[in-house]
Amino acid sequence: MTTTRTAVITGAASGIGLALARRAAVDGMNLVLADIDAVTLATAAASLNINPDRLLLLKTDVRKAEQIKALADAAYDRFGAVHLLCNNAGVALGRVVWEHTIQDWEWVLGVNLWSVIYGVSEFLPRMQAAGETAHIVNTASAAGLVSTPGMAAYNVSKHGVATLSETLYHELKATNSPVGVSILCPAWVPTGIGRSERNRPADSGAAMEPGEFSAAIEKGMGKAIASARLSADDMANATFDAVGEKRFYIIPHRGMISSIETRFKDISELRNPTPLS
Ligand SMILES: NC(=O)c1ccc[n+]([C@@H]2O[C@H](COP(=O)([O-])OP(=O)(O)OC[C@H]3O[C@@H](n4cnc5c(N)ncnc54)[C@H](O)[C@@H]3O)[C@@H](O)[C@H]2O)c1
Repeated sequence: MTTTRTAVITGAASGIGLALARRAAVDGMNLVLADIDAVTLATAAASLNINPDRLLLLKTDVRKAEQIKALADAAYDRFGAVHLLCNNAGVALGRVVWEHTIQDWEWVLGVNLWSVIYGVSEFLPRMQAAGETAHIVNTASAAGLVSTPGMAAYNVSKHGVATLSETLYHELKATNSPVGVSILCPAWVPTGIGRSERNRPADSGAAMEPGEFSAAIEKGMGKAIASARLSADDMANATFDAVGEKRFYIIPHRGMISSIETRFKDISELRNPTPLS
């Protein structure tokens, strides 16, 4: 059995991923950090000030199954085991449904949902086979629990991550697996998420010019992100607390709970969806 535990984190060059890496480093874990932006990833990793023996960086486009396989191969070759997998990379797009192009859908679902499917498919069998206690944290969002207007592809991707993770939770529990799973569901956090297009690959095209309603939504998102009170480090600390407690739902913004309850009440009482406040 290995003594030093190892964390694999996607989207580690910025925001919540970098904060997860910071916390894992403080906890003495080996780090395997992946991001599509290799230059920013290298700078971010340098800021962690950890011994290079404990660090592996890999440029990874999480939309690609073969690149997630390469990430898993590299992590196991280098450190022999993985104890924490954070499927965290994500992108957002603020557009009404009729202003989403097919490439917008493919990009957002590729980065936010297929990445998690690939991550679970590649890492979980290896974690199960190792038989050691391990945990998977999938970064969903409050947008995985409610349906905020102006972010359909994002909402679909995050609801997908939430239900994939809930299903997996039941299955792992029913089979007494040594592997646990949690979902991190933040509301707004001041990170690079509002500038997701900066790392949009050329093969994913570009978003169309926003109409009036989409532009207002984008502006609102920008404001909400800039004025958010909880930090990426708060998300990382909440995540590590939950993993320690084997708790599934990580919802650091407690103000979201009433919106989630309203949605469930709409469903249980067969009401039409209540506008989000
Ligand atoms: N910031 C928020 O308000 C917020 C709220 C809820 C959920 N989230 C989720 O948190 C996660 C992290 O986002 P963040 O807020 O730290 O944003 P961020 O933009 O600061 O970080 C996202 C990272 O993902 C990387 N990335 C983008 N496309 C990639 C790809 N194809 N392959 C690999 N890496 C890729 C980016 O390069 C970036 O380093 C995302 O899943 C996001 O949806 C964020």
